[in-house]
Amino acid sequence: MKTQVGIVGAGPAGLFLAHLLARDGIEAVNLESRTRAAVEGTVRAGVLEHWVTALMDELGLGARMRSEGHFHDGITLQWNRERFHLDMAGLTGGKRVTVYAQHEVLKDLIAARLAAGGRIEFGASVTAIEGADTDAPSIRFRRGPDGAEETLRCDFIVGADGFHGPARQAIPASRRTEYQKIYPFGWLGILTRAPLSWHELIYANQADGFALLSTRSPEVQRMYVQCDPHDDIANWSDDRIWTELHARLDTDGWTLSEGAIFQKGIIPLRSFVCEPMQYGRLFIAGDAAHIVPPTGAKGLNLAVADVLVLSRALAAHYRDGRADLLASYSATCLRRVWKGERFSWYMTTMLHRNDEETDFERRIHLADLDLVRSTRASALSLAENYVGLPFDTDVPSAA
Ligand code: FAD
Ligand code: DHB
Repeated sequence: MKTQVGIVGAGPAGLFLAHLLARDGIEAVNLESRTRAAVEGTVRAGVLEHWVTALMDELGLGARMRSEGHFHDGITLQWNRERFHLDMAGLTGGKRVTVYAQHEVLKDLIAARLAAGGRIEFGASVTAIEGADTDAPSIRFRRGPDGAEETLRCDFIVGADGFHGPARQAIPASRRTEYQKIYPFGWLGILTRAPLSWHELIYANQADGFALLSTRSPEVQRMYVQCDPHDDIANWSDDRIWTELHARLDTDGWTLSEGAIFQKGIIPLRSFVCEPMQYGRLFIAGDAAHIVPPTGAKGLNLAVADVLVLSRALAAHYRDGRADLLASYSATCLRRVWKGERFSWYMTTMLHRNDEETDFERRIHLADLDLVRSTRASALSLAENYVGLPFDTDVPSAA
């Protein structure tokens, strides 16, 4: 089997890349270890930056998002039982975010790609990436545990295979540096059949810890509560979850609407960056290269940003024979990645409580929140980062 760009993974990074390349007439194949149903059924992120929404429209993928997504002009920050509305659209000249679940985005991308005759091989597990530092790289994969090993030969390989995928490991350890921070808390996320409680997302830092109120539809709500990352979900009865959510989100005269919980799970929080994001003809993108804690809602958006940069570089290669944009892929992406890492760390440390935090640090975080409430500069900085920073068009001379 042969193609121009072999893509490991059919998550947000891999599927957006396939669409962007198709627009430029470049052929690609996605190899995805999971089934289509598993990919389309995994509950994850929910917030799209303003330019991702525009990109979906541009690619002809925005119809369902336009009718089923929720467009938010701001977010609510809550601490000391008081709420503050951050008017992001007002601050940023009209930029809004879209609350539209990641798996709904993936359903739209998969359906459109298959309808256009694109190739996504579900159930195809990549076992090895070979020849990344040669002109003839290839990907080895198996369909199912008993399947024979097959080979996809390509001009370029893109590792869009998430944090646990094999692509990053194909960059020799001596040629990459990894930066990491593990947080001493996790998130317990639920989906509940309950009415909308509030008109926008609430990020709350209360004495008991962090909670986030989000939405999926008028009937289904998404909520998160800070927890021990090593806790067993079996320790969290529905009653306990509601008690914690009320303790962190309720204010005087306002209480959260409850409903039946039909999905729940715990995720750990981590920051991680691998530098560089390329080796020879192998490029890594999205969670394969970097992880952010979800508090800034940046994970999916950073993944799409990487592949937008990569698609432009591949188009310049195939169309004009240019090698410079491919050579600077990693440096270009990392400038945005580190800003996303900084913002996600800032939101996470400002909004969570934990035993490792000193009283001094807690007061600093509350002062940070007060700065957002009382100064335009802090409010604007948070808003600009949240709705999505502009893209750098210049390429740095050094990484
Ligand atoms: P992924 O979505 O991980 O996609 C990688 C794909 O590669 C997967 O489909 C995987 O099956 C496939 N793959 C892996 N190994 C192989 C192999 N050997 N062969 C073939 N295919 C392979 N972000 C937020 O902003 N808010 C959230 O609430 C949030 N919640 C999250 C919850 C969880 C449990 C996780 C893991 C992430 C969450 N994120 C959240 C982060 C966000 O979902 C990710 O940043 C986003 O999915 C990154 O997209 P990606 O395409 O880079 O990677
Ligand atoms: C959602 C997830 C996030 O990580 C976030 O910061 C905001 C919303 C969500 O799943 O809706």
